[in-house]
Amino acid sequence: MAFVDWTTTYTVNNVTLDEQHQKLFKIINDLHEAMFSKKGREFVATTIRALADYTQNHFAEEERQMAACAYPGLAEHQAAHQKLIKMVTDIEKRYLETHESMGGDVIGFLVSDWLIKHILSMDKQYAPYMKK
Ligand SMILES: [Fe+2]
Ligand SMILES: [Fe+2]
Repeated sequence: MAFVDWTTTYTVNNVTLDEQHQKLFKIINDLHEAMFSKKGREFVATTIRALADYTQNHFAEEERQMAACAYPGLAEHQAAHQKLIKMVTDIEKRYLETHESMGGDVIGFLVSDWLIKHILSMDKQYAPYMKK
């Protein structure tokens, strides 16, 4: 069983963005597995890079779609994305520059702040605008 599962509770009424969110759940599950299966630092580092890359692509697409449907909360949402990108790149930097292992606090942040709080509070707010 996966560590975190995407369910329809997370839907934002947009197929592309829902698929991207599902992919983010998958990468965070991969990271969780990489951390606890002792696959080594290189594997963990590759997974964090994949998360940072995918996050950036997803945010760009989400912002593009919010702009396309004239969503009024775009600026505020963009600022929240910038913060999350900084947090993910800080996690990566700390991991690469120190010999610290990736702890439960990091995965806890990714799941609670990123997946649960951001998608369920902020992303959900644009969902009615996406509806045709
Ligand atoms: Fe978002
Ligand atoms: Fe999102």
